[in-house]
Amino acid sequence: MARRPMMAANWKMNKLLGEARDYVEQLLPRIEGAEGVDVAIFATFTSLGELVRLTQGTPVVAGAQNFYYEDSGAFTGEVSAPMLEDVGAGAVIVGHSERREIFGETDETVGRKAARAVSAGILPVVCVGETKEERDAGSMWEKVSGQVRAVFEHLDAGEIGGEAIVFAYEPVWAIGTGETATPEDAQDAIGRLRGLLGEFGGEDFAGEVRILYGGSIKPGNVNDIMAQRDVDGGLVGGASLEAESFAELVNGASNAKED
Ligand code: PGA
Repeated sequence: MARRPMMAANWKMNKLLGEARDYVEQLLPRIEGAEGVDVAIFATFTSLGELVRLTQGTPVVAGAQNFYYEDSGAFTGEVSAPMLEDVGAGAVIVGHSERREIFGETDETVGRKAARAVSAGILPVVCVGETKEERDAGSMWEKVSGQVRAVFEHLDAGEIGGEAIVFAYEPVWAIGTGETATPEDAQDAIGRLRGLLGEFGGEDFAGEVRILYGGSIKPGNVNDIMAQRDVDGGLVGGASLEAESFAELVNGASNAKED
């Protein structure tokens, strides 16, 4: 079964309500012809409800950038899976490197969040990736495989289908830097990640899970990245902030995997 490509916009801490509205208005007509690709936008909590409303009845899934794995209680400042369901979010980013590095998220919390999102029926996009120092030291795979293993300490791959979870390989040194992994490096890491998924859920599971690349994707490099066998799409920060360039990426992903 062919995996359906996915192009995801990570707005990070950007966009006021009016800007979110303008963006969706500009995006939708530009991606009308994009067939066979899933499109997601990950917005801030303040614009998430509005994004859900604006994208209702369109192919765009509205998602959150984070949540907490407990359902309710004394967790000031946090938002739970039932709250995401309540507002109508269909997906959530889990363990983005900025959450891990700036806000101290650990492999343990990332694993718990991934498992809770799956049980709530909200698609988690679980981010993994190494720093520059780790890559230079030859420990890319040690880092990435450790992050992936931590997820399956909390999630039983045998109990879920491969369409219930998405991974994003995002080398930290390529995020927001303009420096992209070569398509070969992206394929190498993502191909190994897919192999590792087989250890947890078997070959069918590994063949179904979508794995995105993230890190300075832009219209000029999306085709080469999408052409890689195991790369199923992209998680895009900077180039997703303008509707026009994100639409180019969506259309690029749709064309790249058409055959
Ligand atoms: P970037 O961000 O496209 O700006 O490098 C990607 C991400 O952080 O998900």
